[in-house]
Amino acid sequence: MDLNFYQKTCVAFEEFLLASKPKIDGFHPYFEQSFWEMMENGGKRFRPKLLLAVVCAHNPALVQNAFLPALALECLHTYSLIHDDLPAMDGASLRRGHPTLHKSYDEATAILVGDALNTYAFYLLSQARLDPNVKIALIAALAHRGGIGGMVIGQAMDCYFENQALGLAKLEEIHSNKTAKIIALSLKMGAMIANAPKELLERLDTFGLRLGLYFQIRDDIIDVTESEAQAGKTTHHDQGKNSYVNLLGLNGAREKLQELRNWILKELHGFDGAMSGNLNMLLEDYL
Ligand code: IPE
Ligand code: IPE
Ligand code: MG
Ligand code: MG
Ligand code: MG
Repeated sequence: MDLNFYQKTCVAFEEFLLASKPKIDGFHPYFEQSFWEMMENGGKRFRPKLLLAVVCAHNPALVQNAFLPALALECLHTYSLIHDDLPAMDGASLRRGHPTLHKSYDEATAILVGDALNTYAFYLLSQARLDPNVKIALIAALAHRGGIGGMVIGQAMDCYFENQALGLAKLEEIHSNKTAKIIALSLKMGAMIANAPKELLERLDTFGLRLGLYFQIRDDIIDVTESEAQAGKTTHHDQGKNSYVNLLGLNGAREKLQELRNWILKELHGFDGAMSGNLNMLLEDYL
């Protein structure tokens, strides 16, 4: 089957990621190997693919210039997973079909690889071939949403309120921060790189926040419905968490998911041809 431009871009991005393992100086026996290992272990690459979907649709000439920002997003996301799996957070032993880093190496390595992937993400952004104003805006947005304006505060609330059942509004706030804000930003970063008008940036952001909530509720459901082999990560592990399944029951969570799915599908048709085509292609595996 012939691949279209967006699909070819996703294949090229994966090759680019695998070829991007940096050289690390120092006489540590395995830090260099461990640094890129969780990146190489797979994952759906959902966030970079969202970014690339927007650039391919809106400004295909800039797609090569979008690879470093897309890689930066995947680095930051991978760091968040490595830290999420640590004993001090979720205490998980399987990720992306492989033992978590603190299991295959040690906790100090997992913490430091996470730290280094976090800072490396911003190094990569700084190196992108883009207008300096666009780069600064990307760096600011990822720093905010990947940190105190999103992922980190979301994770902090998620961990702090373990074994304390919260109501729906607070649960949605946790999910929105820990997951949805970076998913929305992935689309928005694509639009920023593609020099899209402000109106499209805002529309993609609103769409991404709902999509991100959908994604995390789907993940909550995966925890109770999939085996570790199916999910490639530790499952049946969210008993003490504020998850949609724990609050609404499995059927209630599925109903909420269905509601969001309907909204997402309707919105998807409202984007222009190339945008809705690319996003449809990516999202059909999830919706
Ligand atoms: C897992 O993210 C953490 C959540 C936000 C649910 P992904 O489901 O995107 O994990 P990978 O990148 O495919 O491993
Ligand atoms: C993690 O959510 C979200 C992150 C910011 C990493 P989960 O704890 O539900 O993710 P999984 O299920 O371990 O992948
Ligand atoms: Mg977690
Ligand atoms: Mg977890
Ligand atoms: Mg989960």
